[in-house]
Amino acid sequence: MTTAPTIYAARETVAIRSENLCRHYRMGETVIRAVDGVSLDVRAGEFVALLGSSGSGKSSMLNLIAGLDRPTSGSVVVRERDLAKLSREELAKYRLHVVGMVFQSFNLIPSMTVAENVELPLRFAEVERGRRESLALEALDRVGLRARIAHRPTELSGGEQQRAALARALINRPQLLLADEPTGNLDSHTGIEIMDLIREFNQHLGMTVVMVTHERALAERYAQRMISLADGRLVDDRPHTPHAPGGAREARP
Ligand SMILES: Nc1ncnc2c1ncn2[C@@H]1O[C@H](COP(=O)(O)OP(=O)(O)O)[C@@H](O)[C@H]1O
Ligand SMILES: [Mg+2]
Repeated sequence: MTTAPTIYAARETVAIRSENLCRHYRMGETVIRAVDGVSLDVRAGEFVALLGSSGSGKSSMLNLIAGLDRPTSGSVVVRERDLAKLSREELAKYRLHVVGMVFQSFNLIPSMTVAENVELPLRFAEVERGRRESLALEALDRVGLRARIAHRPTELSGGEQQRAALARALINRPQLLLADEPTGNLDSHTGIEIMDLIREFNQHLGMTVVMVTHERALAERYAQRMISLADGRLVDDRPHTPHAPGGAREARP
């Protein structure tokens, strides 16, 4: 008797759906099948790890979901938006309001202070200055970086730079956080701190997280689902119980 509403609810909460998604790069005579027919559903609120060796197509896949790149064929639908059907302007809005993204190399703008970096998406969204400043402070508080607002990225440690990048990714309250090897340039202790923050966004702000990593141990610690790619194909997809459940909360006094 309860089956029908359950199925309905599950359908309702698909955050990302890819269908036979392909991204092929043509290099002269050869074709590199970076993403090669991937079909998957990610539910809203899931914490997914995308695993695979170097060159398996993880970043290409993430960039398609982020709307930074367009598929050669197949489709990506995010919260009922078929990304292939969006105009340039709509795609820019999508990237600004629906997606937050962090990278291995942080990608902060060196000439800007931490506060200016974090506010940048709000400037693009034409939010007025006073509101920008208070939202940036709130985001920087959330990642524990309030004391660093006037510093430039080069004056920060790697972990602090990634915190700033997370605050910037968070500032428009995106539904989706896409993280491409977010701990790749950090020592393991700092990596864990960053991962705890990402999990907090997932658990407390309800953000759907797709994290690319080639570190299986990190994925096992945090992810609820492990998806593996090899040569652009989905070769494994299994639910997983994070090894440190509630760790984000335990880490707080
Ligand atoms: N812009 C590009 N042009 C040509 N080939 C690319 C490009 N980006 C990625 N590739 C190739 O696609 C494959 C998958 O790359 P990528 O998605 O970066 O893998 P991963 O993130 O898993 O290391 C690799 O063979 C890579 O060399
Ligand atoms: Mg990559």
